[in-house]
Amino acid sequence: MKVDEHRTSVSASAPGKVIICGEHYVVHGSHAVAAAINKRAKVKVSTADGRSSTISSRGVNVSLDSPDRSFYSIKSIAKKIFSEHGKPRAGVKIAIDSDIPAGSGLGSSAAVSVATAAALIGFVGARVEPAKIVEAATCGEKEVHGNPSGIDIQASLNGGMILFNKNSGAKPVPLDRSLQFLVVYSGRQRKTSELVDKVRRMRDRYPRFFERLTEASSFLSLEVVEAVSSGDLPYLGAIMNMMQSSLSWIGVSNRMLDNLIEDVLSEDVYGAKITGAGGGGSIIALPKPEKGSAVLKRIALRNKVSFLCTIPQRGLRMEEA
Ligand code: MEV
Repeated sequence: MKVDEHRTSVSASAPGKVIICGEHYVVHGSHAVAAAINKRAKVKVSTADGRSSTISSRGVNVSLDSPDRSFYSIKSIAKKIFSEHGKPRAGVKIAIDSDIPAGSGLGSSAAVSVATAAALIGFVGARVEPAKIVEAATCGEKEVHGNPSGIDIQASLNGGMILFNKNSGAKPVPLDRSLQFLVVYSGRQRKTSELVDKVRRMRDRYPRFFERLTEASSFLSLEVVEAVSSGDLPYLGAIMNMMQSSLSWIGVSNRMLDNLIEDVLSEDVYGAKITGAGGGGSIIALPKPEKGSAVLKRIALRNKVSFLCTIPQRGLRMEEA
């Protein structure tokens, strides 16, 4: 691919995600279930006026070539794509516009990585193929998460609900379109890599115990697929509650999240749990049929960021530039 074959502007968007079951254990080989949410990150890649390349997001502007850690995932995705397909002679502008709160456990970094990878691959004139996007986005995610299982990228790329395993990949889960989750952001940002490390230390200390919990997580994830397929929402809620206990045992919940979950469980919901890495971030709850809006109204009075999420079928989307 010659470097002057790049387009003048390419845009892509990708959704955030919630993990319904199996977070953390998925890093250690468990099945897990994740779903895309109706909040997206949009990335526009265009030719700059001068020769310098920039990344911008929410009024912050940094040089793509600066060696510091800011936007490091974006820098490493760009480096990988330019090393494979050639760096355009003119400067490149990467503009990020995301409505997924960062550090909230809702897959903001994966969505930005997937959209950036797709837009940059399109910009350099290469074929925008899922395997290439996953490879480049994983490069970005490794800068943020250390050693991600890949579930966040797959949920963002594919959309809908997926059953995921590190070894066998992502399979779509057939969905009833009316399925909704309530998301409540705790307001506390956290670093996924630190929580993944904490769980790894727990596994090293209690290997047999952790192995049984990982097997249970796999079983519960497969049961989530059954519950979703048969529309058995009370069972789905019960599985979410069991998963929350398991996540508490391995130390990724805390008093603040437990209180938030207890508060939400006092409403018309079937179950509630941490979603994603825990330690802060967000919790999800499964409202009873027709009760979602009323529950949200009451919860929103007590919590700043809460919303009902539907599950979009589309994951990555190439946008009009
Ligand atoms: C983070 O959204 C999910 C974790 O299981 C980490 C991973 O799977 O890479 C905590």
